[in-house]
Amino acid sequence: MPRFQRPTGTLDVLPEEQPYWAHVRAHTVRLAERAGFARIDLPIFESTSLFARGIGTGTDIVEKEMYTFLDKGGNSLTLRPEFTAGVVRAYIENGMRVRPQPVKLYSIGPVFRYERPQAGRYRQHTQFNMEILGDQDPSADLEVMLLISDVYAGLGFKRLSFQLNSTGCPRCRPGYVEVLKAYYQQHVDEVCDDCRRRLKQNPLRVLDCKADQCQPVIAAAPRIGDYLCDECADHFATLREYLDLLQRPYTLNHRLVRGLDYYTKTVFEVWAEGVGAQAAVCGGGRYDGLAEALGGPPTPGVGVAAGLERIILVMKAQGIEVPPLPAPSVYLAHLGPEARRETVRLADALRRAGVGVWLSFGERGLRSQLREAGKRGVHYAVILGEEELSRGVATVRDMEGGEQVEIGLAELVTWLQERTHP
Ligand code: HAM
Repeated sequence: MPRFQRPTGTLDVLPEEQPYWAHVRAHTVRLAERAGFARIDLPIFESTSLFARGIGTGTDIVEKEMYTFLDKGGNSLTLRPEFTAGVVRAYIENGMRVRPQPVKLYSIGPVFRYERPQAGRYRQHTQFNMEILGDQDPSADLEVMLLISDVYAGLGFKRLSFQLNSTGCPRCRPGYVEVLKAYYQQHVDEVCDDCRRRLKQNPLRVLDCKADQCQPVIAAAPRIGDYLCDECADHFATLREYLDLLQRPYTLNHRLVRGLDYYTKTVFEVWAEGVGAQAAVCGGGRYDGLAEALGGPPTPGVGVAAGLERIILVMKAQGIEVPPLPAPSVYLAHLGPEARRETVRLADALRRAGVGVWLSFGERGLRSQLREAGKRGVHYAVILGEEELSRGVATVRDMEGGEQVEIGLAELVTWLQERTHP
């Protein structure tokens, strides 16, 4: 057992995993930028009260999962458990309201939640996050939903399920919550202890309970869709009309309530096979009251965040391949100190010419150097001994076919450049 191990629930992303990460990052960023989203980078920690106010004090995230600490100045800070509250804080603080609206922003980076680790659930995970601020049109909701579906489709995902609901607004939701509580009062002996606690702290969350005993109670519970005010019902109807128009399939899920309090109207998640019990590869929705709750001007908003670790788990489970990362295409082998001096010079010249090089270090036999060239996966091995040097040539071996040719040292850089950059 090594003396030091990574903290529970964290990952080391080893070099062999990096092609997945590079591919997913590049793909998500390309789609976001093409749709007019600009990148915003935010601090990894913010004042604790931002998240308490933004996400809600009764949520699991704020109550149990935040990495909160006092800095040396006595300020309470928290490692971000999500992006949205920070993005809205930055929108307000940087006066982005005076820019042409809506403002579309994306971010990518680590997020921290003290959760019980399991497959696809970590204490540090990476989110790709998109927000549209300053517009309440249902086509903004549609845009984030379609963009994130396009991310998965473009990566080659199969068997996705789009879960959609509307959880109303501060005008209609309290009425529904009262009806839900009254219904649960009649069934209080049938539900689990957690649900009894949720009924007091965050009643909507009873709908998300996974306990077997609660399932019949949930199935027969009143549905929020029947209690929406006219504005929320119209908004939701328009969004669904657009989705139908585009023939984008979705499942209307009356139980989808999400774990953050800021949502108004639309909420959605995408579920995919291949992440075990943790099926959501992204989640999002509309949050028209968040900016005001954070002391800013009324600013409607809608957004989504996708977990990159889960995306990669699904890609592997579904056998999706990714392109390799750039790697050296030429190996430089030498025999003797004079030749070594020349390969050092050649490595420099080749790299300046844009050719990726693996330079052999130290003094070793030719066979061992060629074995290494094979392991490094290069296309060409250049072999330079004292005898070749005296004639002003190098031997170049094609590592795939095994053929060897002699090339003059003066032409070598151009020769390799042409063949490695066709
Ligand atoms: P969320 O559903 O809490 O939403 O997280 C978004 C996504 O992050 C999840 O669907 C999942 O893929 C990933 N995720 C969450 N927790 C973990 C974890 N412990 N380990 C691995 N992956 C995880 C939000 O964070 C909202 N801020 C999304 C949003 C943006 N809503 C509006 N704008």
